[in-house]
Amino acid sequence: MIVGMDKSDPGIAQGLQGVYFTESKISDVDGVNGKLYYRGYSIESLAKNSTFEEVCYLLVEGKLPSRREFLGFDRQLRSERQIPKPILGIIDEMTGRAHPMDVLRTAISALPAYDKDAYVETREENLRKSISLISKFGSITAAIGRRMSAKKYVRPDQSLSHAANFLYMLNGKKPTEKQAKVLDLMLILHAEHSSNASTFSTLVTGSTLADLYAAITAGVATLKGPLHGGADEAALKMMREIGEPENTERYIEDALGKREKIMGFGHRVYKTYDPRARIIRSTLEELQKSSSPEVRKLTEIALREEKMMIEKLGKSRGIWPNVDLFSGPVYTSIGIAPDLFTPLFAVSRIPGWCAHMLEYWEHDRLLRPLESYTGPLDIRYVPIGKRS
Ligand code: CMC
Repeated sequence: MIVGMDKSDPGIAQGLQGVYFTESKISDVDGVNGKLYYRGYSIESLAKNSTFEEVCYLLVEGKLPSRREFLGFDRQLRSERQIPKPILGIIDEMTGRAHPMDVLRTAISALPAYDKDAYVETREENLRKSISLISKFGSITAAIGRRMSAKKYVRPDQSLSHAANFLYMLNGKKPTEKQAKVLDLMLILHAEHSSNASTFSTLVTGSTLADLYAAITAGVATLKGPLHGGADEAALKMMREIGEPENTERYIEDALGKREKIMGFGHRVYKTYDPRARIIRSTLEELQKSSSPEVRKLTEIALREEKMMIEKLGKSRGIWPNVDLFSGPVYTSIGIAPDLFTPLFAVSRIPGWCAHMLEYWEHDRLLRPLESYTGPLDIRYVPIGKRS
């Protein structure tokens, strides 16, 4: 019998929990020991030593680049930043009417119209499209942010790094080295995370041999939800509802009493402290002295949430801080509005999505699971006029 064809015992894994669907050499998430590796390199070593551009190369090409390889890759990334004019029109038209993630998704899905080789399906072309997408996600998201604050579009500056250019296009002035470094770190930490929901959805779409733009559009759509990428915005919203640090414990107690979820906690794979959250937490601590009263207040709230949740649900239920708990205060410290947090997550995750798609297409197999039908069968058809 073919696996999964036994209808009497379908062995359902709700939410596909614990199901392996393929092999991959891209990243390893160790949910027991709280470890994360990109292509074998620990997230701590990449956060300390690398840059987002280099991590992009590592993810899509499979190894760290030589200096010459890096310069070529970086040059290509910088040269792809310009946004086609009609896409700017889409951004202008939609921003303010729809959530920025919907604007980003629509803009990305329109890109093949301005790529003459959009449907050339060689590995080489898909690699070129990947580099273009990594670059354009930054520019498009910055342009959306700019439009959200009713300011004029800023053209990309090729002399700047990916992170610095993003902040420049968003704010209209060059960031400090420290601001660019903080964003670069956040981009690295969010760049890849194995078969999370948005990556899986990218692969489901790509496995039908739809093109890269279609697959990535599916990834953006999936990232939006508050159980996944949208949790960073939702976590900050929750902190704002808490308002003052001394309200934190009462708020959490009430929310848990109503069986509500506390955003920024829990994970399908990590049943311990998320290693990315640890790094972001220590970055936030480093930023504290120079940060605004608002950021200091948000940090205090996040730390009180952390303490209480670990006591209540950490050790007993395996619900620990995840990457989204401390991200909001960090983004706020570099002047990024909450509406832009999830699009910024997409700016970080695009190399991961592309890397997985390139890898999966090397041995493509249509992703098509089963569901166990539990409804009735052979019901007699009654014409519409005779139905009661
Ligand atoms: N606060 C309170 N209770 C929680 C939380 C939370 N954050 N997370 C899980 N639980 C409880 C949940 O209520 C359920 O309880 P019960 O068994 O009594 O009904 C139990 O834990 C299992 O929850 P689940 O949602 O079925 O577990 P999951 O493995 O599907 O959850 C999760 C993973 C991330 C969807 C969930 O932890 C969650 O909703 N967290 C809040 C949203 C969030 O922060 N998401 C970001 C995840 S990390 C970034 C990313 O991957 O995008």
